[in-house]
Amino acid sequence: MSDGAPSLTGGVDLHNHLLPGVDDGAPDVAASRRGLEALRTDGVERLAVTPHFDASLTVRPDALARRMEELDRGWEALSALAGEEFPGMQVTRAAEVMLDTPEPDFSDPRLRLGGGPYVLVEFPFALSPAFSGRVLAAIRAAGWSPVVAHPERYATVPTIVRAAEAWRGAGAVLQVNGLSLIGRYGPEPKAAAEALFEAGLVDYVASDFHARGRPLVRDYVAVLRRACTEEAVELLTRTNPARILNGEAPLPVGAVRLRRGLWRRLIGGWRR
Ligand SMILES: [Fe+2]
Repeated sequence: MSDGAPSLTGGVDLHNHLLPGVDDGAPDVAASRRGLEALRTDGVERLAVTPHFDASLTVRPDALARRMEELDRGWEALSALAGEEFPGMQVTRAAEVMLDTPEPDFSDPRLRLGGGPYVLVEFPFALSPAFSGRVLAAIRAAGWSPVVAHPERYATVPTIVRAAEAWRGAGAVLQVNGLSLIGRYGPEPKAAAEALFEAGLVDYVASDFHARGRPLVRDYVAVLRRACTEEAVELLTRTNPARILNGEAPLPVGAVRLRRGLWRRLIGGWRR
């Protein structure tokens, strides 16, 4: 679909793994270059790179310093590459923090999106919704604002909707992976993502691009465009992630019905 789908313009992507040689994303600068090129082709103009990072490191000063040294080296290489070869793109850094400890310390701005109050977090997959809600509330109470990465990948419908409501209630922002909308993780995360959209629980989407193949941003934006108003697409792909980078709360997107009923599928098929 990518080649025929219109490109996004001014897209903002706050979840990807393009920092070279630090996680399971881009292994080297050449892969980072291809990754930036691919995101630019799909219309992304502003991004935060979010390498994997264990929250438990934040409470162990020596381990934190060692991991930060690695990330700083990667960031030095990536920011030089972006400055020299991608002058039209705004690239900043953050991390995707695995909450493997209940009381992480996010005082280092290198961990946070745009250095502001928001921090991208993920859970160990077996974590219970009640416990995860308490962890998110503790992060809020400490003065930071959690963004839950790919909530649709933790549980199936209807459990995930109840969990996401609890996370929202604890003050978290929810970021769905665009790839879930096109079924790249299978039918269950797709159905969970659709249910979260339908419940009006999604604040924005991101690529979670690992610098392999194409990021498929155009493909998932095409799915959103078929179902949403232009205003909602704007909020999900540009305005809300830009607000997060600026330290501002996302604007409400509202409920979005992505699943196509039989009649709409028939009409869509007939039109093609
Ligand atoms: Fe990720």
